[in-house]
Amino acid sequence: MTPTTETPAICDYEGSGYRTDFWEGQGREYEDLAERIALRRLLPPGGRRLLEIGAGFGRLTEMYAGFEQVVLLDYSKSQLRQAQAHLGRSERYIYVAGDFYNPPFVDSLFDGATMIRTIHHAQDVPLVLRQARRVLAPTGTFILEFANKRHLKAILRYWLHRQPWNPFALEPVEFVELNFDFHPKWMAARLHEADFTIERRLTVSHFRVSLLKRCIPARLLAAADGLVQWTGAWWQLSPSIFIRARQGKSGPPLPADGFFRCPRCGGRDWQYSETMLACKTCGARWAIDDGIYDFKSPLD
Ligand SMILES: C[S@@+](CC[C@H](N)C(=O)[O-])C[C@H]1O[C@@H](n2cnc3c(N)ncnc32)[C@H](O)[C@@H]1O
Ligand SMILES: [Zn+2]
Repeated sequence: MTPTTETPAICDYEGSGYRTDFWEGQGREYEDLAERIALRRLLPPGGRRLLEIGAGFGRLTEMYAGFEQVVLLDYSKSQLRQAQAHLGRSERYIYVAGDFYNPPFVDSLFDGATMIRTIHHAQDVPLVLRQARRVLAPTGTFILEFANKRHLKAILRYWLHRQPWNPFALEPVEFVELNFDFHPKWMAARLHEADFTIERRLTVSHFRVSLLKRCIPARLLAAADGLVQWTGAWWQLSPSIFIRARQGKSGPPLPADGFFRCPRCGGRDWQYSETMLACKTCGARWAIDDGIYDFKSPLD
């Protein structure tokens, strides 16, 4: 994986049945519960404004209750529409369609950010992390989940010659187009390069094994996972890893004004109307479509 100079490709979830085809009734209650345990452990008790990068249909958004405002960023408007349907419309939740490679927010806007089950779609991880750092305030918390290529099942499959790629090799593996698994050391190095300091690592979903999931109730299995997640500080052999990192830039805690940054020109002066935001710098007009700020492509 080399950082791209052109615009990286996007894994487009527009119109996908992610909620119903992947989660609801699909036998993943264990993973969902285990992820919630990890997230609860890593989240700060509260804060002003949290950015959920790749929020999808808002599966985890209600976990951010300690924050005064939650901004859901996702490239898919149909996913955001589903989030809006169950979270409702209020100042508390802001729905933004946009690209994590060029998030439409001013610098240092957030004191917290999460990115769960999302960075595995990134061709250019360094760029995503630089952007996460840019929009986070000094000392802001970043919680990142990523898919671990060096997990126990992958190691066994490799040793039994059932998997061609080497789980110990540092570079990411693209096992399906725009779906990457990452080596924990490789991801840690990219976080450091982006000026993040890793504070805590939890390993998650140790028991993602069909037989166990069939025989043991999801709550019990997730509780058992919760008991061993802390071992992530020493070794990481589970399929999912959660990291809490802090970013080290200096400056004022949160910006006094400004919210959106034009993804086309970087401008931050706007003319607002009920249905549209017009950039005073470059003239690009971005739709506000039934409660969703749409920064995917300008109106003209
Ligand atoms: C597997 S889903 C995870 C959703 C949610 N975080 C969860 O755990 O349920 C990945 C999400 O990333 C979003 N995504 C993929 N590429 C993106 C990009 N370039 N910018 C913003 N969102 C993106 C997709 O639209 C999708 O909703
Ligand atoms: Zn502009």
